[in-house]
Amino acid sequence: MNAKRDTSSYATGSAHDWRSVTADRLRGTVDPEQGWIPMFVYSDPDVYRLELERVFPQTWTFVAHVTELPEAGSFVVRDIGEESVIVGRGDDRTIRVFLNSCRHRGMRLACEDFGTVKSWRCPYHGFTYAASGDFMGTMRGAPFERMAYPQGLDRDALHLIEARVEIYQGLVFATWNRTGPSLRDYLGDVRWYLDLVVGRAEMEVVGVPQKWVLPAGWKLPSDNFTADAYHTATAHSFLGRLKLAKGADFGRDGYHIDPGGGHGLGVGVHTDDASYYPDELRTEFADRLDPAQMVLLDRVKNLHGNVFPNFSFLIPNFIEIEGRKVSGMMLRTWQPIGADRIQVWSWHLVERNAPDWWKRLCRQMYVQTFGTSGMFDQDDTENWEAQTRNSNASLHREEEIMLHYGMGMHAEPLTDFPGPGRVYDGKFSEAAGRSYWRRWLDLVLEEPTK
Ligand code: FES
Ligand code: FE
Repeated sequence: MNAKRDTSSYATGSAHDWRSVTADRLRGTVDPEQGWIPMFVYSDPDVYRLELERVFPQTWTFVAHVTELPEAGSFVVRDIGEESVIVGRGDDRTIRVFLNSCRHRGMRLACEDFGTVKSWRCPYHGFTYAASGDFMGTMRGAPFERMAYPQGLDRDALHLIEARVEIYQGLVFATWNRTGPSLRDYLGDVRWYLDLVVGRAEMEVVGVPQKWVLPAGWKLPSDNFTADAYHTATAHSFLGRLKLAKGADFGRDGYHIDPGGGHGLGVGVHTDDASYYPDELRTEFADRLDPAQMVLLDRVKNLHGNVFPNFSFLIPNFIEIEGRKVSGMMLRTWQPIGADRIQVWSWHLVERNAPDWWKRLCRQMYVQTFGTSGMFDQDDTENWEAQTRNSNASLHREEEIMLHYGMGMHAEPLTDFPGPGRVYDGKFSEAAGRSYWRRWLDLVLEEPTK
């Protein structure tokens, strides 16, 4: 499918017309319902500017797991869109999130990734802000304050800019959107599946998250985790060649799920009777999950998914290590640092009450499969990087390059699956991907209300 790009309005527009030109181009080309997405959206700088204005400030962003903030004064530094934020725990146990920007000249208050403090002191001129309790974020003082500001400082006017925060199953999310839906409503039906991943037991983050930079547009991995089980047999064909998995089955067998909201996931299932999880955890799982969730958890061979827009979760394939099938659970944020660059954040989590041997094997599995040393990530990265280079190279073409997103277009969802959402038999579908792009399009076309 090809379409001519209409460039006529470029010459006539006002200074702000790039928004309407870009919006018109998107309206004329992005067509998830028919299974077509134009390639330029992967890395176009104007599309990215719209995303920074309209997607990231409106949606909930995952910023930390509660176990990364173990005590009063603990903080981590994360991002919402491209904006740096401090995620801190006060002595009242409450987790709060602030723009990491001093109210004097906008310097970053916290320049390290994590730490424990009593207050945040700006490295530039030394303004200090409380890091505890109800007063967290309040400007407390400035060096030589009486000399520098004999008339005094208005503390209220200098309060750090605070985000809205909500927590689901230990996942801390923040948003600048004061009037949008609660986190529970935003997650909607994907919660039932997130429960399997992070709610089945008390989970803890192992170590600190790995970080690395990818020369790729942020939507490529988000779309991949939402709806792409199809690539596994080809891109990760080492699994078959090393006899760690059989043929296409490991990518196909299971369920493709569109829970709505632009979220999506795939659940691969095995056919053995056995659960791969240690017996020691069964009581805790059963206390926290309903019986239908328990049945599905026992069948999980792998599980990949994405919370719109860029927060992914994964239980990789259960693979035999030291004679035992094991997997390593992880969370991902595909944080944009430009139209065609991502800062990847990767967290490994494990059940806090698991026996030590399980924690050790899970960690081994995680570092072998994903993350900076992982075999899967290296495969995926090559694809996302090359797709982005192609997208960049196409930006000045006159003819739109349309990409096919039509897999599973006419499939009917199951009617007897116990979990919520539109659930399709077999993972070879792009239904949730089409919903992802529809949600994305609606947001980038929506003029923010001032
Ligand atoms: Fe923070 Fe000046 S920029 S004290
Ligand atoms: Fe992959």
